[in-house]
Amino acid sequence: MGDRHVKIGRPALTIERLQRAVQHAQGEVRWSEPMAPFTSLQVGGPADVLVIPTDVEDVIRVIQGARAEGIPCVVLGGTNVVVRDKGIRGIVMHLKHLTGIHEESHQIIYAQAGIRLPLLMQFALGRNLSGMEWAAGIPGTVGGSVVMNAGTRLGEMKDVLGAVDIVNLRGHRVWVDASTMSFAYRKAILPKGIVVGARVQLTLSTREQIEAKTKAYLRYRRTTQPLSIPNAGSVFKNPPGDSAGRLVEAAGLKGARVGDAEVSTMHANFIVNRGSATAAQLLALIRKVRQTVERKFGVRLQLEWKVIGEA
Ligand code: EPU
Repeated sequence: MGDRHVKIGRPALTIERLQRAVQHAQGEVRWSEPMAPFTSLQVGGPADVLVIPTDVEDVIRVIQGARAEGIPCVVLGGTNVVVRDKGIRGIVMHLKHLTGIHEESHQIIYAQAGIRLPLLMQFALGRNLSGMEWAAGIPGTVGGSVVMNAGTRLGEMKDVLGAVDIVNLRGHRVWVDASTMSFAYRKAILPKGIVVGARVQLTLSTREQIEAKTKAYLRYRRTTQPLSIPNAGSVFKNPPGDSAGRLVEAAGLKGARVGDAEVSTMHANFIVNRGSATAAQLLALIRKVRQTVERKFGVRLQLEWKVIGEA
């Protein structure tokens, strides 16, 4: 979840500049790497260069290399994003090796950005710590969840966030206290840079209570959302006082398709990839849904998904 777009200049990209930008990276470097396997929708063209940093120091090396060469650099979480079909120019970082997690002090967990929410929840459960139950069934990462203030009706990231660990565009590591940040619906306002970790503040509970809440919530999601078909979570933000799913269903759009992109027949605020959908098909279907809902109900739905890359 949560794709952090950090623009570092806009010069003409040449292979030489790209090579220089990533020359000090110690992690894997892959050229012209298709993004589809890195996204939950399984859609997306190639990144010029994909870097999988080994640790935070490696993220810093890549940021500094990108800055020195004026190369754009994006972090791809992959769970609420559409990567367009021509892919992403510049550097894409995937933080799957940033998976450190520990109980920092009493009821405070520090988790690196690449930790998936289910793992954070498991870690909290193991210590009888409550506060993350709202995230049951969300596959995204800690980094993405912070950046987009992930949440559900039960709660959101801002309720538990203590502080955010960021590598800024100069490659310096800074801590931002959550009390100094502002949050909006599915959005956190942060200094420019890359989130490499977060501190979450939980409360002591019992294993039984945490498990009961999590299981009930998971059951609800499994029976109302098409979790077994490639998707990227809710497509649209809920408009104030209403729900996007209700509006899309009332507009008669459940099951509507463009190619292999389909408005889920289970939950109308999900668009799923029925096999070999392209980004162009997904975005055409989104346009059709927005136009129909606006025409019928006068409501302009706002996209919750992030769209990146070139068409
Ligand atoms: N509804 C319909 N038709 C549909 C789907 C929903 O009429 O096809 C109606 C439901 O009957 C209900 C209302 O819409 O009255 C709300 O539906 P639901 O309980 O499924 O919740 P939601 O508002 O669609 C939100 C989050 C989900 C989260 C669920 C459950 C947003 C945009 N989405 O969905 O989060 O899982 O609540 O807590 O806030 C996500 O953000 O990626 C996500 C999946």
